[in-house]
Amino acid sequence: MSSLKQIRSSFLDYFAADGHAKVQSAPLVPQNDPTLLFVNAGMVPFKNVFTGQEKRPYTRATSAQKCVRAGGKHNDLDNVGYTARHHTFFEMMGNFSFGDYFKEHAIEAAWNLITKDFGIPKDRLMVTTYIDDDEAVELWKKIAGLPESRITRIAGSDNFWSMGDTGPCGPCTEIFYDHGDHIWGGPPGTPDEDGDRWVEIWNLVFMQFDQQADGSRSLLPRPSIDTGMGLERVAAVLQGVHSNYETDLFRTLIAASEHATNTSAEGDRAPSHRVIADHLRSSSFLIADGVTPSNEGRGYVLRRIMRRAMRHAHLLGAADPLMHRLVPTLVAEMGEAYPELRRAEAFITDTLKQEEIRFRTTLGRGMGLLEDASKDLGEGGVLSGQTAFTLYDTYGFPLDLTQDEARRRGFSVDTDAFDVAMNEQRSRSREHWTGSGQTASTAEWLALRDRLGATEFTGYDTTDGTGEVIAIVQDGASVDTLESGQTAEVLFDKTPFYGEGGGQAGDRGEIEWTDASGRQGAGTVLDVQKHAQDLFAHKIAVTSGTLAIGATVKLRVDADARLTTRANHSAAHLLHAALKNVLGPHVAQKGQMVDADRLRFDFSHNAPVTEDELARMEDEVNAVIRQNLPAATELMAPEKAIEAGAVALFGEKYGDEVRVLTLGHALNADKPYSVELCGGTHVARTGDIALFRITAETGIAAGVRRIEALTGEAARQHLLAQAGVAKGLAQTFKVQPLDVPARVEALTTDRKALEKQVAELKKQLALGGAEGAAVVVEEINGIKLIARVLDGVDGKGLRGVAEGFRTHVGSGVVALVGVTDGKAAITVAVTSDMTDRVNAANLARAAVIAMGGQGAGGKPDFAQGGAPDGSRAEDGLAAIRTALEG
Ligand code: SER
Repeated sequence: MSSLKQIRSSFLDYFAADGHAKVQSAPLVPQNDPTLLFVNAGMVPFKNVFTGQEKRPYTRATSAQKCVRAGGKHNDLDNVGYTARHHTFFEMMGNFSFGDYFKEHAIEAAWNLITKDFGIPKDRLMVTTYIDDDEAVELWKKIAGLPESRITRIAGSDNFWSMGDTGPCGPCTEIFYDHGDHIWGGPPGTPDEDGDRWVEIWNLVFMQFDQQADGSRSLLPRPSIDTGMGLERVAAVLQGVHSNYETDLFRTLIAASEHATNTSAEGDRAPSHRVIADHLRSSSFLIADGVTPSNEGRGYVLRRIMRRAMRHAHLLGAADPLMHRLVPTLVAEMGEAYPELRRAEAFITDTLKQEEIRFRTTLGRGMGLLEDASKDLGEGGVLSGQTAFTLYDTYGFPLDLTQDEARRRGFSVDTDAFDVAMNEQRSRSREHWTGSGQTASTAEWLALRDRLGATEFTGYDTTDGTGEVIAIVQDGASVDTLESGQTAEVLFDKTPFYGEGGGQAGDRGEIEWTDASGRQGAGTVLDVQKHAQDLFAHKIAVTSGTLAIGATVKLRVDADARLTTRANHSAAHLLHAALKNVLGPHVAQKGQMVDADRLRFDFSHNAPVTEDELARMEDEVNAVIRQNLPAATELMAPEKAIEAGAVALFGEKYGDEVRVLTLGHALNADKPYSVELCGGTHVARTGDIALFRITAETGIAAGVRRIEALTGEAARQHLLAQAGVAKGLAQTFKVQPLDVPARVEALTTDRKALEKQVAELKKQLALGGAEGAAVVVEEINGIKLIARVLDGVDGKGLRGVAEGFRTHVGSGVVALVGVTDGKAAITVAVTSDMTDRVNAANLARAAVIAMGGQGAGGKPDFAQGGAPDGSRAEDGLAAIRTALEG
């Protein structure tokens, strides 16, 4: 039995032996075709080669191309899990001829491969051709010896292949395999053709036309060939199974999913396991190619795929996030053929996990709502559009997820009402929108990109240049001129202005031109944003003259702002390296923002960064700045970049060259300090950063921290401001700045001493002056008594006061009740000559009991006690008088 891996390599080797160049799969995000959401066929990366726009060093090629069909013209998302061979992600193997061979060789090569090399019995095969393609019919008879009965002519789109609404297209011939009469279905062109018995395994397209947006077709420079064979389908045939999900690769993935959920892929649960296996592939490959889940465009398609799988994990009863746990199995199976999967493994795992954690917070409640809403619906019922909208809006359920769940329960969703609710919400949010005008939609930018090509960025080495105006987009529509006082987005053929991207803000600056009739014009560039990947849209306010399409314009970037932006961007790279050195290799960049004023860097780390760690990072970065080594930018193949230790940013073009920036030299190893893939603008030497200063470290989400920092003059100003505070204090204290801490320390000590004194004085005040004449000495039964209530003096304080009074009275008794916090404390002192007549402890006890307390303790000459109720202080003294009266 041949595994998928073996089939993939036999296919490529077969065509390589036939003079075809082996071409590595292109990324899933089309690099040369902004009209497509994802690469959805093997020919997509070669589109411009077919039309003649692009030249390659070969005229024959072969590839196994990653494809995603989920959204756009070819969308299979809804069928996945329920059929034997639909996938959101699959590999399309193909051979291509760019004006080299045509129909005859294509048919011959295909027939030989499947019948000889793959050994598929001839009597299980039949073919279709386009209705009027007599030539193809004749060739099939001649080469394969097929009788008329096994060649079916088909009219319409099934046998006329087109990539999308525009692009290369042509009639095709398809090869079908008969899985046998144990499966229901008829051959193509019969009423039962939708059954699963006859399966298309290979499509050979005779590329002849280029479909234009206006509906017309022009001829390609030369007739060409594009073929596509789904690897998963042919593997099913060669492995003798009917479903793609029973082939080796899928069996391994499904086994992992069974293991992780502790359920078997049988009965009702089988579709869920298939969905998980399929969506794991599409999600992981998309993430590896730089797509991250979001609420629009490609990111939203990814989110829909991920959430659909996550709902099925939930259906299987998975209590914890599941998808990320299957990544190692996928990487083990496919990482060799697709190294990008290995490179991005940690990133894929993290992205899947975070999304599943996020979705799980609403998934359960959303399913509850769906449950309630569908209680009364029977088989064939319709779920209300409003419920579907609430699920979308409040619980994060993409519509197709709700539909999928509805279908599982045997009913459908009122999508018209859903659309109405959705549109109402859109117009509500438009009403709240107070922008100065509409901007063009993604589709409009993509169309412009297709018509005008990429903007050439000239700004790596310069901030000045000239460019020709090639489009002006005002309020979402293309216009020819822009008058003084108006603002619009302007495209030039080339520009030194950096378009916001990779966390670096767009440049600002000025433009100037002379129009055809010699009049001067000028404008301000407020911002530059990138659209359709590489169109640089300059937001320009015209301040004088008229700007028109075709004008040659002087472009001048605000050079000071660019200079500080460069320093901030390079410093962010150094900080990234320092974070990994100081905190550990687990640190992954989560986001970055650099502009002319500051830099901000978000990263994964599970605890606040300590002061000591921050100081070490700041020291490292400044040490590398002082090395003042030249920054090296190099264009290289991505594999080389990774070898050189580049921190990979996913979604960079690969297959092509990438920009690699190297900064500084490691402080204690013989290697560069920082190596990263980056399209931004950077310093010439690290010394240009001058100074690096961290100003804040905060947490912004679970497990994500943010560091804010300044460089150069801004960092100096920040330090000056801090030094200014020290200087101000020094002046206030009349000492040298460095002596301020000692001075503050001394002041603190002084303050403590003063606090003590104040307490003492308060006590003195309470005595009314211990030695003062105001002290009343009573006499009871011949015994002198000083009896007083002292407000604000506690038991400890009373002791000292009592000593004072004892001296004062000379011979007799002192009884004091102090009241603090509403409680009473009593102290009784008896002069030594009197202890044989009165006992201090007895007196104190009498007083305490009179005040509602429990008792007191001490010796005959000195005793203390306490009682809960300070308002009864006088009762305590009265009890002492009574006791003395005997
Ligand atoms: N482009 C054709 C397809 O996708 C053949 O490769 O079927």
